[in-house]
Amino acid sequence: MHVGIDLITFSTSKYFFKLETLAKYRNVDYAKYCTGIGQTQMSVFPPNEDIITLSVAAAEKLLSEIDNKDSIDMLIFASESSFDISKAEGIYVHKFLKLNNECRVFNIKQACYSLTAALQIAKSHVALYPSSKVLVIGSDIIKYPSNSSGEPTQGGAAVAMIVSESPRILELEPYSSVFTKEVMDFWRPIYKSEALFDGKLSAYNYLELLKITFDKYIKKSRLSKKDIDYFCFHCPFCKMAQKAARQIGDIDIHYTTIYNSVIGNSCSASLYISFISLLDNCLNDLTEKRIGFFSYGSGSVAEFFSGKVVPGYKRVLLSQRHKKDLEERIEISFEDYELFRKNTSPFNSKNYVNIGNLTLSNISDDKRYYSKINKF
Ligand code: HMG
Repeated sequence: MHVGIDLITFSTSKYFFKLETLAKYRNVDYAKYCTGIGQTQMSVFPPNEDIITLSVAAAEKLLSEIDNKDSIDMLIFASESSFDISKAEGIYVHKFLKLNNECRVFNIKQACYSLTAALQIAKSHVALYPSSKVLVIGSDIIKYPSNSSGEPTQGGAAVAMIVSESPRILELEPYSSVFTKEVMDFWRPIYKSEALFDGKLSAYNYLELLKITFDKYIKKSRLSKKDIDYFCFHCPFCKMAQKAARQIGDIDIHYTTIYNSVIGNSCSASLYISFISLLDNCLNDLTEKRIGFFSYGSGSVAEFFSGKVVPGYKRVLLSQRHKKDLEERIEISFEDYELFRKNTSPFNSKNYVNIGNLTLSNISDDKRYYSKINKF
């Protein structure tokens, strides 16, 4: 039986901020950001856009592409940007998508690794129940302290995927290698909205776990590096993925970083945005090509796994929509950037545009209220 990614898409903010402008205000040579770190823009989020509105915007695009949304019997929501440590954010998403009530909904948290954990659980579920479809969502918005080394790598997005039998985009292979090691490289205590981190340690641990998991993957699968046609790496900033490629040796990852370089770090979604970037932009036909994926989540858990692209995959890609969404983003000023960073409540906010049809309209008595927007 073949199980894997049947459909995949992402949504990010309607707004972006140029790193050239950030460099000017932070008194940093812009070359450090664009060449040294490999980023040129970041997605920035107005107070009425959050991990729920982004997720619903992404998932709605997929639901219109499947025959029977009642066959979705599991929704797994992966995030490290939770606003509630009890209630699963996936339940809001389930409600706004009007999914079947006989659907198991839960959250997964393990930094940027969480969406890969969700994907592997979904794969096992479909292998047991072949008629089921699983909606897997990773949604994150990441903020670092102002003036910190992490600031130019901020960003955010939601990726939504349908995992099913006889997938139309990627068939997941059985080979996979996982490694867990407790490391204090990146964390966010529940009372903080900005992440804390040890940047150098995190980059070191990322590369160390890549080496361990890749070597184990090669040993277990009995494949060689040459058998992997394309690599997608977790991409907290593009230079990190380039360093990963260099460590594996002589790999071109240009197509996998086109979207990430203008979105910034989208944490759980980031690896899968690299994959979408490859699918949408690669000039070669990817049919039957093996893609190697390296997933890394600080703290830390890493996994190297692979999949093969399915014949006919181009017919179900949403490439034009992805490109249009990015092209149509609105640039914001430094003043608005600062406002978006500080203002986490929709109260008194200007009428900012959402990417989808849902907006966070109010937070009162510690409850979040959303409303539908009629865009037409
Ligand atoms: P930094 O310490 O400010 O930068 O931030 P640097 O001094 O190391 O410089 C970066 C690069 O720019 C260097 O190149 C410099 O030479 C170059 P490299 O040696 O790396 O090849 N450079 C210049 N190039 C051109 N012109 C110039 C210039 N100046 C310098 N004028 C750091 C780097 C990674 C520390 C920072 O981005 C950071 O702290 N980021 C946040 C943490 C992070 O993203 N870690 C990545 C691995 S952990 C991970 O991926 C997990 C994560 O996604 C979270 C999760 O799992 O949930 C973060």
